This record gives sequence, C-alpha cells and structure tokens, in this order.
Amino acid sequence: MPSHQALSAELHNSRFMKAVRREPVDTTPLWIMRQAGRYLPEYMAVRNKVTFMELCKTPELACEVTVTAQQVLGVDAAILFADLLPILEPMGIDLEYLKGEGPVIHNPLRQGKDVDRLQALQSMESVDYVFQAVRMIRSALPANIPLLGFAGAPFTLASYCIEGGGSKNYIHTKSMMYNDPGAWHELMTRLVDTVSLYLKAQIQAGCQAVQMFDSWAGCLSPSDYRRYVLPYTKRLIEAVITDAPVINFLTGNPALLPLQKEAGGSVMGLDWRIDLQDAWKIFGYDVAVQGNMDPVSLYADLPVLRQRAADVLNAAERRPGHIFNLGHGVMPDMNPNHVKALVEIVHELGAR
Ligand code: CP3
Repeated sequence: MPSHQALSAELHNSRFMKAVRREPVDTTPLWIMRQAGRYLPEYMAVRNKVTFMELCKTPELACEVTVTAQQVLGVDAAILFADLLPILEPMGIDLEYLKGEGPVIHNPLRQGKDVDRLQALQSMESVDYVFQAVRMIRSALPANIPLLGFAGAPFTLASYCIEGGGSKNYIHTKSMMYNDPGAWHELMTRLVDTVSLYLKAQIQAGCQAVQMFDSWAGCLSPSDYRRYVLPYTKRLIEAVITDAPVINFLTGNPALLPLQKEAGGSVMGLDWRIDLQDAWKIFGYDVAVQGNMDPVSLYADLPVLRQRAADVLNAAERRPGHIFNLGHGVMPDMNPNHVKALVEIVHELGAR
C-alpha cells in the first residue's frame, strides 16, 4: 500500500476521498474541470483587474478564485487555480498568454538539439507561488472539501514545448518522436523528473489528490502511445501515487483506455467519447472512474440536462468509485446557473 499522507478525519471521510477509495457514499461526488473559469462572474471580477499570468502568480488571487468557485457551485472538491504551462518557464520556455488566443511559446523546441534548452528543475523554488496558493487555499476551504492539485502529463507538455501552442496534427511533435528517439527520451525524462517533484510539492503543501492532464495524448495510436508515452507516464504516476491518489485524465481516443489503465492512477479520468459503462468494463472495476458528461450538454434546457446527467449516473450503475465530472472543461460562455443546476441534479439523483 502506498504511504499516503495522513488526512484529517473530515477529509478522509469526505465524499470525494471515499469515492477515490471506491467506498460507499451518500451521493455521487462531483467537481467540474475549469470550474473556476471565465463563465463565472466572480472569476471575471478578479480577472478583469489582472492578466491571466498575474492571476496564476498571485497566491491571494489564485486562492480567492479557487475557494469562491467551490463555494458558489457547491462541488465536492476544489481544484487549485493555476495552469499547465507556467512550470515550463523556469525550465527555459518563453511563455505568453495572448488575449483571446491562449498560450504561445516563443522558443519552441523544433529540433532534437533544441531539447538541451529545456532544463529539468532541481528545486521547486521558482514556482513557490503555486505552493503558497495551495497553503492558503487549504486553510480557507471547508474542512471536508479536498483540494486537488494538477499538472500536465509528459506527452501533453512535450507537445506544447515542441509545437509552441495548440496543434491540429502534431507534425513537429511526432517528427521528433519518430526521427530522434534519443532527443525524445531526453525531453520526456526531463519532464517526468520535474513534474514528479512539482506534484509531490503540491501534495506536501496541502493537496489531497492530484490530476494529471494528458489532454493531447488522444492523437496517438495505441502502439505509439505504448512505445513513446506509456513508460514515462507510468514512471511519473508511480513516483507520485506513493504520496497521494492520482487521477489519470486522458482525452480524445477511447482505443487508449487499456493503456491508460496500464499507465496507472487511482482514478481514470474519462472524456465523453465512450459511454462510461463500456469504459469501466474495459478498465476493470478495481479502479475508480471520473466523468464523463459531454460539456456541451450544459447548453441544453434544464430538463434535457437533467436527463443527460441521469444517463451518466445510470451508466455508472451506482458502483462505488464514480466521481461525476464533465468529459472536458466547462466552456467560457456557459450560463453559470446551468452549472449550479448540474451540481444539484447530480447530488439529488446520485443519492443512495
Ligand atoms: O480546472 C480548473 O478550474 C483549474 C484551473 C485550470 C486552468 N487550466 C485555468 C485556465 C486547469 C486545471 C487548467 C489546465 C489546462 N491548461 C489544460 C488541461 C485541461 C484541458 O483543457 O485539457 C490545458 C490544455 C491548459 C492550457 C491552456 N490554458 C489553454 C489552452 C488556455 C487557453 C484556452 C482557454 O480556455 O482560454 C489556457 C488559459 C486558462 N487556463 C484559462 C483558465 C481559467 C483562461 C484564461 C483567462 O482567464 O483568460
């Protein structure tokens, strides 16, 4: 058994932590990816005064938006307000968030030889603002609400470093992977080493569990995932799971589910491209599952939204170990009342 950090009784007995351990719960716990985002007026009130990067790097503000989102929604867990990419800055990446366009990297690693520009971090001092935020959030949250930390999975971070931003076909990433396996190994190793320190430090500062986002791994075939990604993701999860439960979230390709399970994690994070019932059968019932309502369902009229949430709950068959979530992040133009309604619906219909 992993030697997890001791939890307070309130956190240990929280709905979310019980579901992670696949123990019975009074009702299905839920949280929502991007729950502290632009669809929330409370977030925009803070965000309108600072840039996105300033928000990430100011612990008081990151704490405020994290705690407020949990409170106004009534969700069963909070997720640290931060982003996937700022950890890359001290490693040598020149990162900027452009208005309306998202993250851009000005010095992408396009050639194998560029990988030397990305240095593994020996200490977490340069991202101390994240751990300051974690400590503040932990002491501001209700005693029975777990705080989730997170980081990008090695493949998703590597593709950001190589492509320099979003990508449709991942041509640069796959070219390096296929043509220069030595450089690929070096890049992935530096990311695994740095991200495992980063997640362990988040746990040390007060997170009860962490989610690893492999948002882009779905572009890979199962054989390429097995060869170029699985060994690294597996090593990362093994290093972190001794400290706290890990949610392994991957999107875009249900053919990867058996390999996602093989990579490890206490909870498998699912997108909506497969029915939860089928996915859980593939994973096996010895692991918890998080998901997986299509985020676009939140645009539906409330009676339809209710039915769609019920469909996901029914697919989970009231097995212990289901954490309700969307299959991906909530969209920025969402009506916050629909998100609040979803929380009530899941708690009502999930009641045992
Ligand atoms: O879930 C949460 O509420 C916690 C905070 C969080 C953010 N980003 C805040 C954010 C988390 C967990 C992330 C993870 C993240 N960041 C991912 C993985 C999740 C996924 O969607 O698969 C990725 C790919 C990123 C990178 C990123 N950050 C992009 C592509 C963008 C721009 C796109 C967009 O939605 O605007 C961001 C910016 C970002 N990260 C915002 C927020 C609230 C919007 C920034 C703003 O306020 O202007």
